[in-house]
Amino acid sequence: MPITFKAGDKIRSSEITPEDVFHRRREFLKSAGYSVGAAALGLSPWSPVNAAVPELGAIGQWPGSTTEKQTPWEEATTYNNFYELGTDKGDPAKNASLLVTDPWSVEIAGECAKPGNYTLEDILKPHANEERVYRLRCVEAWSMVIPWVGFPLADLLKRFEPNGNAKYVQFQTIIDKDRLPGQRYPVLQWPYVEGLRMDEAMHPLTMVAVGMYGKLLPNQSGAPLRLVVPWKYGFKSIKSIVRISFVEEQPDTSWNLSAPREYGFYSNVNPQVSHPRWSQAKERRLDGESKGLAALFSEKRDTELFNGYADEVAGLYTDMDLKTNF
Ligand code: MTE
Repeated sequence: MPITFKAGDKIRSSEITPEDVFHRRREFLKSAGYSVGAAALGLSPWSPVNAAVPELGAIGQWPGSTTEKQTPWEEATTYNNFYELGTDKGDPAKNASLLVTDPWSVEIAGECAKPGNYTLEDILKPHANEERVYRLRCVEAWSMVIPWVGFPLADLLKRFEPNGNAKYVQFQTIIDKDRLPGQRYPVLQWPYVEGLRMDEAMHPLTMVAVGMYGKLLPNQSGAPLRLVVPWKYGFKSIKSIVRISFVEEQPDTSWNLSAPREYGFYSNVNPQVSHPRWSQAKERRLDGESKGLAALFSEKRDTELFNGYADEVAGLYTDMDLKTNF
């Protein structure tokens, strides 16, 4: 994950997810009991990206949300890591239309009573959405504050009745080498995979996100569903998930396979454990105040242990040396 600070490029409307795809997703979400606000399409005051993304209505509010200043939508959706769509921070938004999210299904596999192929509707329908404003700290020492929309991963996983051998959960992103430009190059082993220990996956903070800022997730942010694990570095928050597998052994993860000395399995945000090539003690908040080169010189803030979620999650790691289990 080389650090490249580039201003978020402006996007032509021809480069974003086709509107008919969003319409079909909106229709599905309606039929699945998700209410979709009418004010969404074509009413964007400022961005073609915004114009294409429908709003989600009737979203509950999670009481634990941070009240810190939010990263503006435009910055959060044009400064991304999604290597399947390119390695430059602006590539995922530019290439977003190459990710086809309809139809979508998720394979549930491994140590559980109800494995199988589930349509996106099957996956999402029973869950009520709520908005949770989380900090997300990237290993590259920047952070964002984003109002995600979704539900606890635990509620989804329980439906498949994992058995006693399910010690970990592995997640996998779509593989589509014909369409996704990044997958034509071996920057990572494809498909992108991530994993959590079972208790991390079942922790109430761990979230399946289907939207952000009251709208459906745009493709560059991991449509149609992604993880958000707020106390871990951003790369654990895998996008565009097509497979969830309950496994007994600690699963492979993409960044650990790529550079095991630099990226461990746990990847808990920890200011005391440096990345071998840079410190993790401070971070730059992307808050819309400074973009591009200006961001390089903006003031940094201290990074907090577990990204500020220590009260909630430190108990998961009481007997572990966080320096060796980085
Ligand atoms: N998921 C997939 N499938 N592919 C990726 O390249 N990048 C990760 C993570 N999820 C990535 C991914 C990294 S490095 C980060 S920091 C976050 O997504 C970025 O999420 P954001 O673009 O929504 O900020």
